[in-house]
Amino acid sequence: MAKKMMHILPLEAYTSQKWFDIEQEKIFSNTWAYAGLQEDITQPGQYITVQAGLNNIFIIMDDKGNLRAFHNICQHRGTQLIRAVGQTQKVLTCPYHDWTYDLQGNLITVPSEAEEFKNIDKSCHGLKPASVGIWRGMLFVHPAHNATPVEEWFSKIQPHLGPHNVDELVEYEDARTSYEIKANWKIVVENYIDVYHLSHLHSGTLNMYNHAKAEFGFIGPHYAFYEPLSEEYAKDIEKNSPMPLIMDKDQAGAYVPMLFPGIGLAESESSWATFIITPLAPDLTRVENRVKVKNTSNWEFTKQEWRSASFWKANIKPKYEGDAEQDPIASADFTAEDIYACEQQQKSFKSPYFEIGPSGKKGEGPVREHQQVVLDFIAGKYGSTSGDNKGTKPKQSKAVNSVDATASIELEGNSHIVDIPANISVLQAAKSSGLKPPFSCQAGVCGKCKAKLNKGKVHMNNPAALTDKQIADGYILTCQAQALTKQLDITYE
Ligand code: FES
Ligand SMILES: [Fe+2]
Repeated sequence: MAKKMMHILPLEAYTSQKWFDIEQEKIFSNTWAYAGLQEDITQPGQYITVQAGLNNIFIIMDDKGNLRAFHNICQHRGTQLIRAVGQTQKVLTCPYHDWTYDLQGNLITVPSEAEEFKNIDKSCHGLKPASVGIWRGMLFVHPAHNATPVEEWFSKIQPHLGPHNVDELVEYEDARTSYEIKANWKIVVENYIDVYHLSHLHSGTLNMYNHAKAEFGFIGPHYAFYEPLSEEYAKDIEKNSPMPLIMDKDQAGAYVPMLFPGIGLAESESSWATFIITPLAPDLTRVENRVKVKNTSNWEFTKQEWRSASFWKANIKPKYEGDAEQDPIASADFTAEDIYACEQQQKSFKSPYFEIGPSGKKGEGPVREHQQVVLDFIAGKYGSTSGDNKGTKPKQSKAVNSVDATASIELEGNSHIVDIPANISVLQAAKSSGLKPPFSCQAGVCGKCKAKLNKGKVHMNNPAALTDKQIADGYILTCQAQALTKQLDITYE
């Protein structure tokens, strides 16, 4: 039986531990991870820890005021060196046997050194460095020591973000939240970038923006979105805004990018917020929000709240009437509406009757594109961000090519499986396995396929150019003009 698809990704990408593990390794351990706001570390000795895929990393300010990042692993027997957030004085001491490091990561003290470790060269046992960077007022870490700088990773999306000067804003601490959604992280991302749902699920809660005029699209792996204010809201924005404005009226609107992987921002005319998505399990995701607002007095905020109250009372309504406490769709809270939609969708994946329906051409385009980005990233097409090669242009990663592994091609329909070595194109593999030509693609361009595989299986998908009989005869569909993953979906064993 053909396996179930979610347009581009297989359904199991949203439900299986196998996919979760692959994503942790290939995506979340191989990209810049959000770690906090710049103001979280301002003093020497202050530190925070963050989980970046498989890596626990801490950022600390050293005694010279430089930010440093290290893997949170004692170089003796691997105990986690420090916990969560805190402040140390001059050194970091492991709780297990008290090996002690300075703030540059050098091992400086080993208890009972003369008796127990007579010839130890402490300079060989410093902490393993990771990369740290500040971008748009946020702290980021990358597990690799010489990662491509964070500004470069986000450089192409930068011009499409809001006009906010994040450094001038201050955190509204009461708005800091963290909650779990019982859904796969990609469902949470897809909901965030689904333009089609804005006028429907949020018909009563997001009508201060003009969804019909939304502009959006992917730039590399990152997604940009902007929509202007609705006419009603814009008419008297100085009065209607719930908080003091933080940008010029003519630029006002919602800038809502989703940076890869799962780093959402919500940049509006009166607030700037993070929406950090962390996968916890195949069907469980944590979201953390922090909000920044204008640096002005509480009194200004109170006055603005009073001024705008009538607009919000008249314009924000629940989608359905009901008990606002019990029913998210009756809550008039767009976050509750989103969580509900994500969790209900994930629940349906368990049903044998679940089958994905047609996808909206424009409004759901980003949902499909994000699935393609995930697939391409896992296949190494975005290159490495660990400093081996630079930029965000899709390309084959060196790491993928160098892995000595085998793959197999499986023709869906007749289960014809062909083993191929790594570093060989599907076309070469098919030819050398004795499969019959023509090797055809929908564009009719054949013979130049350079796509390579790392390991695992390739299920032939959407064999539109071939008849069932041709497939049964052993013909294989490969596209030479397109990236491999546009034609095939890849699963890893
Ligand atoms: S594991 Fe850290 S001192 Fe032994
Ligand atoms: Fe939504």
